[in-house]
Amino acid sequence: MRRTIAPSLLSADFGRLADEVRAATRAGADWLHVDVMDGHFVPNITIGPPIVDAIRKASTLPLDVHLMITDPQRYLAAFVGAGASWVSVHHEACAVPREAVAEIRALGAHASVALNPETPVAAAADVLPEIDMLLLMSVHPGFGGQAFIPTTLAKIAEAARLRATTNARFLIEVDGGITAENVERVAAAGADVIVAGTAVFGADDYASAINALRGPTDGSPR
Ligand code: DX5
Ligand code: ZN
Repeated sequence: MRRTIAPSLLSADFGRLADEVRAATRAGADWLHVDVMDGHFVPNITIGPPIVDAIRKASTLPLDVHLMITDPQRYLAAFVGAGASWVSVHHEACAVPREAVAEIRALGAHASVALNPETPVAAAADVLPEIDMLLLMSVHPGFGGQAFIPTTLAKIAEAARLRATTNARFLIEVDGGITAENVERVAAAGADVIVAGTAVFGADDYASAINALRGPTDGSPR
């Protein structure tokens, strides 16, 4: 399957956000990854629904909204209403992750559960048959530009194994510290969706950066 590349707008220039969104779209991004942080679940604060709405108006690409917030269920309708096509809630932040997943789907978006680096894949075993995507964090959530945590590779492989043995259908997304140098290992372990902030928005040429993340052998059709 063709790799999905989702540049993370966290590393974009927020003062020129609509231009950055259009530039990433023109450069061949498949999705746009939007990092929402509340200063509680993670130490950083970023954006809310009005900015998601502004991003949606600047691009027709699917918006992949990663909620790093406490009590995400309170805000699902606001983010889907603002234009989120995919919504990730953190397993660690939900009282009952299955309920959040059901609500995202009922709102008409694709549902994803995210796991912090220290949360084992097994913690989400009961919800795997019901999700559209599993987001594996390969850095501690909160900031762009951190180094990839290598133990994530085994978690990706475990998720891919579980998916195959249970006939589940979720995509595997990996987020944090991905570069042109380590992306082949991430994809070989079983990742379908690659999030990259610094590796795209820190580059002079977004199109070459996205192509480098797609890899040399990734020519299969969408
Ligand atoms: C971290 C965010 C990531 C981050 C990735 O909390 O979830 O999406 O923006 O940025 P890089 O690719 O720079 O690690
Ligand atoms: Zn993210």
